[in-house]
Amino acid sequence: MIDDQDTGRALPERGVPADRVLRELRGLREGDRPTHGGRLFAYVYDPAVPGLDELAAAAHAGSAHVNGLDPTAFPSLLAMENALVGAAARLLGGGPGTTAPDVVGSVTSGGTESLILAVKAARDARPDVAAPRIAVPVTAHAAFAKAARYLRVALDPVPVDPATLRPSAADVAAAIRPDTVLVACSAPSYAHGVVDPVAEIAGVAATAGVRCHVDACFGGWTLPWLRRLGAPVPPFDFAVDGVTSISVDLHKYAYAPKGVSVLLHRDPGLRAPQYFAYADWPGYTMVNPVIASTRSGGPIAAAYATLRHLGEDGYLRLAAATRDAVAGLADAVRGTDGLRLMAEPESTVVCFTSADPGLDLFVLVDELTVRGWHTQPQLAYGELPASVHLTVTASVAPRVAEFGPDLADAVAAARAAGPVELPAELTALAATLTPDALTPELVAGLAAGLGLGGPVSGGPGVPGGDRGAGAGGAVPDRTAMVNALLNAAPPALRERLLVEFVGLLQRPTY
Ligand SMILES: Cc1ncc(COP(=O)(O)O)c(C=O)c1O
Repeated sequence: MIDDQDTGRALPERGVPADRVLRELRGLREGDRPTHGGRLFAYVYDPAVPGLDELAAAAHAGSAHVNGLDPTAFPSLLAMENALVGAAARLLGGGPGTTAPDVVGSVTSGGTESLILAVKAARDARPDVAAPRIAVPVTAHAAFAKAARYLRVALDPVPVDPATLRPSAADVAAAIRPDTVLVACSAPSYAHGVVDPVAEIAGVAATAGVRCHVDACFGGWTLPWLRRLGAPVPPFDFAVDGVTSISVDLHKYAYAPKGVSVLLHRDPGLRAPQYFAYADWPGYTMVNPVIASTRSGGPIAAAYATLRHLGEDGYLRLAAATRDAVAGLADAVRGTDGLRLMAEPESTVVCFTSADPGLDLFVLVDELTVRGWHTQPQLAYGELPASVHLTVTASVAPRVAEFGPDLADAVAAARAAGPVELPAELTALAATLTPDALTPELVAGLAAGLGLGGPVSGGPGVPGGDRGAGAGGAVPDRTAMVNALLNAAPPALRERLLVEFVGLLQRPTY
């Protein structure tokens, strides 16, 4: 007999039969945003290939208990990891017969870990530098800032041209100081999907004797296929002299389940400071190429199975479908009065902004959500206006024809509703409050005032879906008010507000 009061407890008094546990899990998942179906433009990468989920799940299960802690104990994992690194290196201009024949790398848990390790390797390669710094375009992924904070490395932001959304090599050069250990650029950037001038940036880095990391976490697995399909993709990989490391996430456009990225270095010497080894204790000598020590073989096996099953022909097909979907979505945006593309799409992102003060993007995002399209609002930053980001995957292709009419409809509804009007006291608060003055009580009051039991769902950078907020937080379907408030606040206050909001959600259930 099962005590129903136990439902939802991770540790019930008496164990629950497997079929019921699975039923419960399916029930929980019903509250999530749809990971399949081509209507979610962030968080998930869906190729819509029949049978691929099942294959990856079986591969994952087969190696879930294998431990990457010791590659000699589990040679299967070492073989798969080396094969994944080889595939990524070959795709990105390295390996036998190229100008970068000695590329080596590691499999990490995701883009953030790859970037942290790229920064760590650069920092630890220069023990002579007491206060190391990295020069990073403001459009580069926030994980560089995370790496800088975790590793106590100073971050020198490089501005971007508000028209092209790219940094100039001259500005990168100007940001390089004697203590700079790494320069970074994106291929492409997540927010807008534009490829930085990698060759020029790598050139100034090389001239200064500084490492240059290309963050191709997002696009490293699509740009090569798009190029083969004829797209004018600029040089961005190891074919470019001066590029010392590249990251590419297999859990993005390689369509592997979550938990796999590859960090590549041009040669073993560049990778060496990435390792952590420790023998000064009575237990086993620890040698870790990545941040985690114990590592499940599951994600690595699932990625290996995914790559082998799809093959080059599969990725080429998926890239073509994605390219066509991007073109269709961009056309829909171009054809909609009041919207403007932030950049002409050159990869797999469509990003647009409002060109009409009567059309509030955050209201539009809500109207699209109501119509079953889950987009990602991006807050205004510096000279860059607020925007809506669409990560486009192959699964979107069959949906494109439905998007245009729904977008037009949603725009009409957003115009009719008018822009969000924040209560005057909230606007004043957002403009004047300093992060230090933000008490938990004030945040709780704000959350209640905004109708939140927790933070905004689907808001910029906030994990979780509408109903995925779960037991703790009552999250409204419409989030325009919250996004408007965040948009009115400076970045440091946004950070604090979101930390406090998410903290409200992350409460244990008993
Ligand atoms: C360009 C880029 N770099 C790094 C990351 C971080 O990747 P992850 O979320 O896997 O840690 C992302 C994620 O979207 C990205 O787009």
